[in-house]
Amino acid sequence: MGYRILVTGGAGFIGSHTVDALIRQGHRVRVLDNLSKRVHPHGRPDHFNVKAQWMQADVREKGTWEEALKGMDVVYHFAAYQDYMTDFSTFFHVNAVSTALLYEVLVEKQMTGKIKKIIVAASQAVMGEGRHYCPDCFPGGDHFIYPAIRPEAQLLKGAWDHRCPVCHRILQWVPSDESVVHPCNPYALSKHSQEQIALNLGNRYGIPTVVLRYSIVQGERQSFFNAYSGAMRIFALSLLFDTGPVIFEDGQQVRDFINIQDVVEANLLVLESDAANGCVFNVGGGVPWTVLDFYREMQKTLNKDIEPRIPGCYRFGDTRHIVSDTSRLQALGWSPRRTVKDSIEAYWAYITRKKVQADALTLAQQQMKQMHVIREMKT
Ligand SMILES: NC(=O)c1ccc[n+]([C@@H]2O[C@H](COP(=O)([O-])OP(=O)(O)OC[C@H]3O[C@@H](n4cnc5c(N)ncnc54)[C@H](O)[C@@H]3O)[C@@H](O)[C@H]2O)c1
Repeated sequence: MGYRILVTGGAGFIGSHTVDALIRQGHRVRVLDNLSKRVHPHGRPDHFNVKAQWMQADVREKGTWEEALKGMDVVYHFAAYQDYMTDFSTFFHVNAVSTALLYEVLVEKQMTGKIKKIIVAASQAVMGEGRHYCPDCFPGGDHFIYPAIRPEAQLLKGAWDHRCPVCHRILQWVPSDESVVHPCNPYALSKHSQEQIALNLGNRYGIPTVVLRYSIVQGERQSFFNAYSGAMRIFALSLLFDTGPVIFEDGQQVRDFINIQDVVEANLLVLESDAANGCVFNVGGGVPWTVLDFYREMQKTLNKDIEPRIPGCYRFGDTRHIVSDTSRLQALGWSPRRTVKDSIEAYWAYITRKKVQADALTLAQQQMKQMHVIREMKT
């Protein structure tokens, strides 16, 4: 028979793939999405699954939740504001307040007993700069350091790495598990608030709740316009239009990429797992990549010899290195099964199939420059 499932942000990247999988499993799905202009400048995307019920509305409105939750057994809350922009309050309204409204409506309407599960999309960004150690001061790697966001004065000098506060040598990163919480920018702060609201109210009111902290998710349907959708989008669009992409910092920053189908499998697993209730899980690819190596992998996979440009730009508020430790979710039986090459091939097939305008490449970049989010080191 299946569940009746509300998916917020179901027109977006992760939401739409999850909707498809839920429908394939026989669930009935209602999608709630406001078609945010930043993500969908041309309206509802054609990947929207017409077997789902469509509701265009905003998760910041209490009335939206009152309507959307009627008759539902499960909620996946993916709708989010995610970018590097300076309208700080929007992060909190969309990400944190919406989550409080979800629980508020369930409690006020006495629906708590009817909900089987709420699954909240959080982010690796909550862990900030993650876990490091100093190989000189603590060679055993058993004394961890959690660096703060790098100061502007440091970035202006092009000194990208975190250094030991004692001996000033470069720190080594290690994978961060779910206990690491160090949000360093408004998006991360809002996502951490969202986690806390969901876990606290879920526990207090007996609503089984799971929080999934995704690493950088890759695959088809990543918005061409959303600046947050990162390296894959920038590199692929640059290669499509035969230009060398700009790589931020020195390209040696380490990231953790995960294929969208692995994310969907994690989303489905926690729906059925009672052991997941009340927990936070990292959902990451498990393989660390420098951004430059990732670009090289794209060049190799797509057979392109266009060299990148590394002019010393940086995104204000960006993280130097972050890799998630996923052992907690692996203990539930999940593991990532796709490679970065699989993601590159899928995304390339997608963008070459679509009629992408050249403005997709420049629009987000221009906006970030205007807002002074992309900056340059001073030599
Ligand atoms: N994509 C990633 O790499 C990544 C990484 C970590 C966490 N996440 C989290 O996963 C979730 C989904 O991300 P995504 O990549 O699919 O993003 P996306 O931008 O592709 O999709 C988000 C969807 O939410 C909708 N939306 C935005 N504001 C809304 C509002 N106020 N009311 C209703 N709908 C609204 C948008 O229209 C969009 O369809 C988000 O919560 C995000 O923070 C994503």
